Amino acid sequence: MSCRGMWFVMGADRERTAVSPPPMLYLATMTKLDRHYTDPRLVDLYDIENPHGPDFDFYLALADALKAQRILDLGCGTGLLTRQLAVGEREVTGIDPAAAMLAHAQRQPNAARVTWIEGDSSALGTPAADLVLMTSNVAQVFLDDDAWATTLRHIHAALRPGGHLAFESRNPADRGWEQWNPETTLAQLETPHGPVETWLEVAREENGRVYFIGHNLFKNTGEDVVATSTLRYRSHDEISASLREAGFAIEQVYGDWQREPFNNTSRMMIFIARRG
Ligand SMILES: C[S@@+](CC[C@H](N)C(=O)[O-])C[C@H]1O[C@@H](n2cnc3c(N)ncnc32)[C@H](O)[C@@H]1O
Repeated sequence: MSCRGMWFVMGADRERTAVSPPPMLYLATMTKLDRHYTDPRLVDLYDIENPHGPDFDFYLALADALKAQRILDLGCGTGLLTRQLAVGEREVTGIDPAAAMLAHAQRQPNAARVTWIEGDSSALGTPAADLVLMTSNVAQVFLDDDAWATTLRHIHAALRPGGHLAFESRNPADRGWEQWNPETTLAQLETPHGPVETWLEVAREENGRVYFIGHNLFKNTGEDVVATSTLRYRSHDEISASLREAGFAIEQVYGDWQREPFNNTSRMMIFIARRG
């Protein structure tokens, strides 16, 4: 658990302001941050490996369709989507516990249009937001049910009545991790650190959690920077029950970015829920 004990708020024109968060609240949803999000060399690979795709088109269109003016992006990471949401009169806030991801985000174009907060869902506050997003499977970092329930409770409090929460999570029934082996995941990347070869391998799968290893072989140095990760796979029914428990009404569950209705063979579940 990389608890810094310090939150940083950085807006367009404001200086960094250090605020010490209430320790227990801050720890509420955190597990040890994945090296992918803390090692600057791996952070530099993130947008190369995860470029703008149909997922971001979906969330941008959703924000427009909902006429969302105040948007919170929880687990915003490098802010590739967060910065694109920050147009017109919109107030957009990016929240992430990984300082290295936020530092990368703030060096990018249009970063000054976003308020960046280092923290977890306990940093959302109660801004009566129109829309809260968790994109690229952030929902799967909450390994324990308490952490997930706490996060949903914080999100509910951050939304105005009638405000929306949208996120995706991989469908456990699809067992997509069975494809995560060196043969099918091997990638050659051109990066600011020179050529890098990356691949994944699964260590084990138990109790709805998948434990896997990410290899990042930096060709110039020969160093394989290894990151171990765990993801929680909740079923459609588990997520639906947790949303209702937290006071949300489920409006849509899509199975792909083209808005096909979810069914049990879908690769993913894209939830759109409304705060009651
Ligand atoms: C797969 S990345 C997604 C980044 C971004 N949303 C995107 O779409 O590219 C997952 C992000 O979740 C963040 N994260 C990890 N634990 C978290 C927590 N407890 N609360 C909020 N975000 C967390 C990580 O730091 C990382 O930036």
